[in-house]
Amino acid sequence: MKYSTQTATASTIKTPCFVTSLDGARKALTKKAEREALDLATRDFGNKLGQVCNANIGSTAAIQRLLVVGGCDGEVSETDYRKASKAAAASLARLPVASATWGLHHASVEDQDIYWRASTSLLDVSLAAYQYEKHKSKKAEPLKLRRVNVLADGRSRASCAKAAKEANALKAGIDFARDLGNEPPNVCNPSYLLKEAKKLGRADKVKVSALDEKKMEELGMGSFLSVSRGSDTPAKLIIVQYNGGKRNDAPIVLVGKGITFDTGGISLKPGANMDEMKFDMCGAATVLGATRAAIDAKLPINLVTLVAAAENMPSGKASRPGDIVTSLSGQTIEILNTDAEGRLVLCDALEYARRYKPKAIIDVATLTGACIVALGSHASALYANDDELANGILDAGTWSGDRSWRMPLWDDYQQQLKSNFADMQNIGGPQAGSVTAACFLARFTKGMKWAHMDVAGSAFQGGPKKGASGRPVPSLFRYLVDQC
Ligand code: BES
Ligand code: MN
Ligand code: ZN
Repeated sequence: MKYSTQTATASTIKTPCFVTSLDGARKALTKKAEREALDLATRDFGNKLGQVCNANIGSTAAIQRLLVVGGCDGEVSETDYRKASKAAAASLARLPVASATWGLHHASVEDQDIYWRASTSLLDVSLAAYQYEKHKSKKAEPLKLRRVNVLADGRSRASCAKAAKEANALKAGIDFARDLGNEPPNVCNPSYLLKEAKKLGRADKVKVSALDEKKMEELGMGSFLSVSRGSDTPAKLIIVQYNGGKRNDAPIVLVGKGITFDTGGISLKPGANMDEMKFDMCGAATVLGATRAAIDAKLPINLVTLVAAAENMPSGKASRPGDIVTSLSGQTIEILNTDAEGRLVLCDALEYARRYKPKAIIDVATLTGACIVALGSHASALYANDDELANGILDAGTWSGDRSWRMPLWDDYQQQLKSNFADMQNIGGPQAGSVTAACFLARFTKGMKWAHMDVAGSAFQGGPKKGASGRPVPSLFRYLVDQC
């Protein structure tokens, strides 16, 4: 997919498909016969929000067809614009046209400018125009749509161009994250993640490296290594450094949970839906996706992305409940449940991040089932020890429609992690499971401006539409753009 701008008035454009409101459609057609074709096609169209009408005008017309989007003629709310835009994007992605002109962003939306409207719609197109057919021997027909031109006038030209440029980068980042997430766990193991991360290193100003198990052992990452011990595929701590900013600017550090398959280990998970634990590397996939987007957009920032990649398997070498390990920070951890493995890899990666003296550090993890109980799939759970950082991520989420909801990190929860035998235990009991997991991580991030996103509910879908969503790449990317 390629997004670009087209500066013109609607009545002068030539396009296989024009996406607009009903009034917009009427204004775009100047010839009488074409207006009649439109009237005929939209005769039974209710013009209600969420409805889309595909009006064929004719293959010789300048505008060969119109996707008429309902409910967008007057001023609409932000929520309604999103709804209309999503419906239009879903229809457009499935049309047999290679290119289209997008005009819906000229609708007026309460409190939102054309840059937001264009960005929002292009993200909708990006999400709708994703297919994952890699492992099917009989592939579905590939989507035809290759190019979307954002219609601009003299005044909105710069805003639309910025939206299109960012949308190209964001699409690449989201697709990268979704592809990694959807890849089966017999393919996507820690070395595969490293191989894919190395592709980012082809770009300018990017360096990709990794710590292997030997190096991690030397450093003293006993917590991280305890997770991969049961697996035949070795762990990796993947490091992507992008120096788009000034030499001495402190970097933003992103950390992703990259459990390429989570069986639970000796604290084995039940069999039902266990396949979905291939998505337990979606934190890693999305920090890599956001990094890809930042690189593609050539953002003037310094970024370090760490991926804690490991497979959590039961075996004769696996950790037992009751084992005590020493983390890189020196703090000891009693592993009471080997299925609470995400925090065990993350605590060492977070401690390792200190050496980059981060301006801010954000980790992303499918960390707890309790997060899904609390928030479902609509919001990622956000924890932070710094209000400015938290608000920056919340705002980025609201702006991009990829929302987070802030949760508490109060000290009161810390006592649930007390252990009789070590500095802490790795589970906090049945209450507030997403909070106590975050409180565990908080013990390793003192003195850094840190945020944690539990994306167990938002990063992938189960059921018939099973698949990686690419979230929270949109809000991470927006946060990074906002920092520039
Ligand atoms: N990867 C899971 C969390 C998860 C569950 C993500 C469902 C997405 C969907 C995590 O490693 C885990 O197993 N957490 C345990 C923690 C518990 C043992 C304290 C959980 O949530 O049950
Ligand atoms: Mn687990
Ligand atoms: Zn897990």
